[in-house]
Amino acid sequence: MQARRQGGARDERSTFPAATCRRSSPAGGYSGRTAVRARASALSPKPSSSGRAAPKPRPGRPPPNQSLRCNVEQSEVTKFLRQIGLMQYAQTLYSSGFEDMETLLEIEDSHMRDLGMLPGHQVKLRKRLEEFDADIPVVQIHPQRCLGDWEDEDDAPPVRVSASSPYGRGSAPSDRTTTSVQMSWAHLKEIGTDVVGAYFCRKIFELKPETMELFPIAVRSRYRDWATDEDEDERNLAASPALRRLFGRVVDAVGSAVAGLQDMNKMVPALTQLGMRHVGYNLKEEYFEISEKALVLTLREGLGDLFTKEVEFAWSMVYNFIIATMLAGFRTARAEVQAKQA
Ligand code: HEM
Repeated sequence: MQARRQGGARDERSTFPAATCRRSSPAGGYSGRTAVRARASALSPKPSSSGRAAPKPRPGRPPPNQSLRCNVEQSEVTKFLRQIGLMQYAQTLYSSGFEDMETLLEIEDSHMRDLGMLPGHQVKLRKRLEEFDADIPVVQIHPQRCLGDWEDEDDAPPVRVSASSPYGRGSAPSDRTTTSVQMSWAHLKEIGTDVVGAYFCRKIFELKPETMELFPIAVRSRYRDWATDEDEDERNLAASPALRRLFGRVVDAVGSAVAGLQDMNKMVPALTQLGMRHVGYNLKEEYFEISEKALVLTLREGLGDLFTKEVEFAWSMVYNFIIATMLAGFRTARAEVQAKQA
């Protein structure tokens, strides 16, 4: 693929035409990965008032240092705590062995007490964990509109989920969550998915300028609407109608999934194949993660006050499910390519 540096992404104004007022929101979103595996061994038994042990730092571990701080920063538990406003316990929980959501979901009152959490914070954490575990929207996507070919639904393997998976319980979301999440999608559709898509893609370019090289004019031409007289400026990616359309489709895919509130199993094969195709588009794995950050920034800008924690949570869940599934396909295809080259 032609790799050429394209200019212009930063020249364009990076705001929505009718941006609503902003609301501060935690940086990054909770990264709700699927298929979290049991990590019972991380809990080293220590008698406590309830007879259950609070997880302790594993023996032989170095004292908190730069890399531990880094691990804490990047852990899913920290992202979750940031979202619920309990960041002050991130370090303590992490170094006590609560390094992933599956473990955190098992936390007991005695653990929280032992770790010195204030009573009100214990209540809050418990409540948020219950919401996390059970009150997650089950989602539906409309692949035929956005993701290309779809396999026969009978062929679709079930998604493997664990208790802490976003889709684990299949329970209905609360009315409040449903409404706020659906309102967020309605609002973005009002702005226009292509406008949101353009902003989303500019954010990706800002966060990782080298990604612009993935979209030379030859690639953009594939997404051009030849029925209109729209122009593709070779050097100005930010104003590219083709990219606006392509990323508009991505926004549409994610948004309709977020608002659909139905079974998501059926989208797995198409997403896996989509991920496989992205190997041919010269993507690096890290771009998927960057795109998640870009999506959060996009939503924050586009939704303003509608960008509540619940909304962020729902979008992050769905997006993470999508990119985790795509990544599985991406890795399989990349391994095949590497095996052929060896
Ligand atoms: C949720 C995440 C994403 C979804 C759902 C998605 C979806 C799509 C779809 C539907 C296409 C049209 C071509 C096809 O169906 O194979 C496409 C093309 C493309 N995507 Fe993605 N994408 C995602 C993330 C990304 C990211 C993060 C990048 C890189 C920054 C990227 C780069 C590309 C490129 C370069 C093409 C054009 C390929 C070509 O026609 O040569 N995608 N994507």
